[in-house]
Amino acid sequence: MNLLDQTVLVTGANRGLGRAVAQTLRAAGARVIATARTAEGLAELRDAGFDARPLEAADAISRAALVADLPPLDGLVNNAGVALKGFDVGMARRTLAVNLRAPVALARGATLRPGARVVMVSSGMGELAGFGPEARQRIHAAGTVETVLALADAWLQAVERGTDLQLGWPRSAYSVSKAMLNAATRALARELGPAARVNAVCPGWVRTDMGGAAAPRDLAEGAASILWGLSVAPDGPTGGFFRDGAPIAF
Ligand SMILES: NC(=O)c1ccc[n+]([C@@H]2O[C@H](COP(=O)([O-])OP(=O)(O)OC[C@H]3O[C@@H](n4cnc5c(N)ncnc54)[C@H](OP(=O)(O)O)[C@@H]3O)[C@@H](O)[C@H]2O)c1
Repeated sequence: MNLLDQTVLVTGANRGLGRAVAQTLRAAGARVIATARTAEGLAELRDAGFDARPLEAADAISRAALVADLPPLDGLVNNAGVALKGFDVGMARRTLAVNLRAPVALARGATLRPGARVVMVSSGMGELAGFGPEARQRIHAAGTVETVLALADAWLQAVERGTDLQLGWPRSAYSVSKAMLNAATRALARELGPAARVNAVCPGWVRTDMGGAAAPRDLAEGAASILWGLSVAPDGPTGGFFRDGAPIAF
């Protein structure tokens, strides 16, 4: 993708991988719309010369306000994400809102130019290897965005009732949210059809606030794995899950 004069939205761009992706895109000549959720984050983005917009990803009203005021996009990088501590239904709901519902809402709500690339920043933690057979089967069977979102609701109910482990879900809201994001990516690729390329990418384990100091990858390596999703050819893959441009297990 020639990024010169392309308009690309990057969420969670005030720090970490989102910031590195936004900087690289701008250096390549893209018009970058960068989101943050706090006044400090927005001020910092503006000071750095970005077109900064507010987004609290957990809030449907904030998501709608963002998409209502966007120009048509050539690229969308759904990067904002959380890995919250603990495990209960409240944190599970919030994790899904940020890591699943927000990326889906932005991909569906934004006006995408023909040939646009949508990149869902997922994680190897969303691979289904750690899921029991029933949960795995239900994720594989979720073929539309609606069925993925309904499955997310069903999982929250199971967490509330305490039956989630029995049904084969791991006790990691982060893993469940990223597995569901991968399933939603596959469904969105079908929904959007040939007009867009929609792929989930894993940046690898990267030294950020989320990844921690022990992670083997630096920001540039992680950002490159994300940016690959914007370089997919117009007839290239869509609906897949990749790290460093290579397909990975889902
Ligand atoms: N680092 C890794 O090893 C790794 C590995 C696999 C996948 N990932 C994925 O890569 C993406 C970026 O991770 P990172 O390591 O750069 O994390 P990070 O350093 O913790 O940064 C997260 C970004 O997301 C934003 N964010 C969090 N909650 C938000 C919300 N409710 N609304 C709007 N923005 C919100 C943060 O904004 P605030 O500053 O306001 O909190 C920040 O800009 C995430 O999707 C993560 O799951 C990371």
